[in-house]
Amino acid sequence: MASSPSITRYLTGITTTGTPHLGNYVGSVRPSVQFSRHDNVQSFYFLADYHALIKCDEPARIQRSTLEIAATWLACGLDPERVTFYRQSDIPEIPELTWFLTCVSAKGMLNRAHAYKAAVDKNLAKNEDPDNDVSAGLFMYPVLMGADILMFNAHKVPVGRDQVQHLEMTRDIAQRFNNLYGEHFTLPEVVIDDAVALLPGLDGRKMSKSYDNTIPLFTPRPQLQKLIAGIVTDSRAPGEPKDTEGSALFQIYQAFASEDETQALRGAYAEGIAWGDAKQLLFERIDREIAPLRERYETLMAEPAQIEATLLAGAEKAHALSQPFMSRLRQAVGLRSLATGAKPVAKAAKSTKSTKAGFKQYRERDGLFYFKLLDEQGSTLLQSRGFQTPQEAGRVIGEMQQLPHDLVNSFADRLEPVDNEVALAASKVLEALAKATGDQ
Ligand code: TRP
Repeated sequence: MASSPSITRYLTGITTTGTPHLGNYVGSVRPSVQFSRHDNVQSFYFLADYHALIKCDEPARIQRSTLEIAATWLACGLDPERVTFYRQSDIPEIPELTWFLTCVSAKGMLNRAHAYKAAVDKNLAKNEDPDNDVSAGLFMYPVLMGADILMFNAHKVPVGRDQVQHLEMTRDIAQRFNNLYGEHFTLPEVVIDDAVALLPGLDGRKMSKSYDNTIPLFTPRPQLQKLIAGIVTDSRAPGEPKDTEGSALFQIYQAFASEDETQALRGAYAEGIAWGDAKQLLFERIDREIAPLRERYETLMAEPAQIEATLLAGAEKAHALSQPFMSRLRQAVGLRSLATGAKPVAKAAKSTKSTKAGFKQYRERDGLFYFKLLDEQGSTLLQSRGFQTPQEAGRVIGEMQQLPHDLVNSFADRLEPVDNEVALAASKVLEALAKATGDQ
């Protein structure tokens, strides 16, 4: 499928440590699935199981969670044909890229990562060694996340507020890499959807596993009813008017109901609906939406081999992008085949800071004006035909320099593996062009 420049790539990962709950559904799964159906959107959703290893050392739990999360997304309508849905650990280029990025990441920047700093602060408060019980995995978390994003040159990354800093770091790392090795990475933008309200949990605080106040998304009907009965309310008696403001029950209802239904419940609150009846309404409303999904979920959960096959097919799609991109990056950093001609280091070193790189204009003995595009070592990457005047040649250079960065990069992204000389040359040209257009 030819991608047009207006296609926006969205990417997001879900850490595989828990069982999806209603808060995940309302805040992430439901809007993402809807969004993935839009035109001009290319979506990548993946199960971040390498990230899971950072906080979970229970193998069975990771496996179980991976299955549950995959089944959840599929049951909720994610179309694996339309999106790229894969498991992080099926893409070996991700840890490889993580290492490349590690080597350009400032340690000082990682020291400032919220999750790491919180762990250190906790230790300091207890008068313990600052890095007590802190794994290097936790420290490297933002770099692994950067690799997830940069591997597919995502434009937009929908995440929760707590992840904003990771996106800033990803941009920082990408920029450093680009400065050193050429414009390989798109700088991703964070997307925070403020319209998606945070769902309160059973106790009224944000629904979150860490507060132990969640309602599992696909809990069986009777359990769902029981859990909903446990949502905190105030002690107003039946007949007494009730406040919608600050009512967890009301907010949860709102996340599932239409405008009209919400208005109706508002009216019932004012008229003093009994809490028990309000809970019954909420239960029925949630179950109306969830029941068909739950049925699909149960079918999927009964066929784990099917899910495995779906994920492997997704990995293949992802791999078709990550593999060629990674060989391009390997080239860029100098992990290269020795058979393709190694340049003497001294020469390269002398010509760093682009003494030779860029467009060069000159006149030939035929009296015509030419230009070429040179790489750092002064090798010719592009050669123009002859022009009557230097102005004409200059204008063409100018036009090439107007090429938007993203456009040039998007071509580079779509090149085939660079293991042969022609493709390698082509990717070098694009790299140099990207540089020359960026340097104006
Ligand atoms: N760190 C994210 C979270 O906890 C999960 C994640 C891992 C992710 N890799 C990602 C999200 C890449 C977006 C993009 O929510």
